[in-house]
Amino acid sequence: MTDLPEPKSLRGNWSYPTAIRFGAGRIEELPAACAALGITRPLLITDPGLALHAVGERVLSIARAGLPTGLFADVRPNPTAADVAAGVEALRAGGHDGVIALGGGSALDAAKTIAFMVAQDRPPWDFEDRGDNWRRASVAGLVPVVAVPTTAGTGSEVGRAAVITNEDSHQKCIIFHPRMMPGQVVADPELTLGLPANLTAWTGIDALSHSLEALCAPGFHPLADGIATEAIRLIHRWLAVAVEDGRDLTARSYMLAAASMGAIAFQKGLGAMHALAHPIGGLLDRHHGLTIAIVMPYVLVTNRPAVEARLAELARVLELAQADFDGLLGWIIGLRRDLEIPDNLSALGVAEEHVPILAPRAAADPSAGGNPVALDEAGYAALYRRAINGRLAA
Ligand SMILES: [Fe+2]
Repeated sequence: MTDLPEPKSLRGNWSYPTAIRFGAGRIEELPAACAALGITRPLLITDPGLALHAVGERVLSIARAGLPTGLFADVRPNPTAADVAAGVEALRAGGHDGVIALGGGSALDAAKTIAFMVAQDRPPWDFEDRGDNWRRASVAGLVPVVAVPTTAGTGSEVGRAAVITNEDSHQKCIIFHPRMMPGQVVADPELTLGLPANLTAWTGIDALSHSLEALCAPGFHPLADGIATEAIRLIHRWLAVAVEDGRDLTARSYMLAAASMGAIAFQKGLGAMHALAHPIGGLLDRHHGLTIAIVMPYVLVTNRPAVEARLAELARVLELAQADFDGLLGWIIGLRRDLEIPDNLSALGVAEEHVPILAPRAAADPSAGGNPVALDEAGYAALYRRAINGRLAA
């Protein structure tokens, strides 16, 4: 790629899967995005760190310049049902008619769930992403959401699901409803410029995993495959640049777009990377993207018989020197090393004693259904053990 674009030219108004205002400086349009959804009195929902950060203060002041805006900043990493309940209470108490969801995956997921749960009289677990559970939901009284991502990873700004932790069982639960898709997204890469290198790396790998798992998921879905392939191409080109120089607006722009693309693609399905990572997040409260980065090569090796041809094709798209499965695997292992991410789960404190708890949860995780190789509890236990001990070979 020789002719690099002027970063300010990387902007657009996109209409799928929802209305997206993409580009540097677009955060100034936040009040207009609220107005487009009929919101007159929003509640801005974020995490405590971001609320105190210059980005949080800026976004809140832009919102308040246009609309009376409340603030709920009590969302923890790996948010729980208690966080959601407190947010619902704040939404009702303030008489708010909409939500501004600001942050990374945790804040976006919590905010989307708050805007959904305000209309429900059942616990959130009744809407776990299984079968037709979502049909139980009441849609009267749902409040609209404007999503403002501050990381390039989760893609939750364009997703219809949210991950919430059940604090009693220490399990992560995927809550799903079609109406959880935010009605407006303000995707402004300038908001991601200050993200530290480690979080840039971990969230970027999460975005990569969404596209990679979608591409490998079984089923006829050339739309998702096309979006996933382009997202991976962008991440291959730009993630290392964004980690190296966080102020590179071009790299930040492409990564933010790629993160949304990953979440669009994984409507096709996820797989064992997420099935393995969700139980670790629920039980041990580890960072999702970091966990994903560690398990990624182990899952690819396990899935090799089913995905070898497809990943060889991907290696050719990426113009890797070795354009086959091993070349692709080598790129990912090298990327993980360059991003200073450990190569085994022991580094996260995951131990043999956790495997009997984690493996059944992984096998039962809704993401497991998208894995191209069917794995039962024993299969997941074996995968965890290999990832704990650093044994890549299946
Ligand atoms: Fe993820």
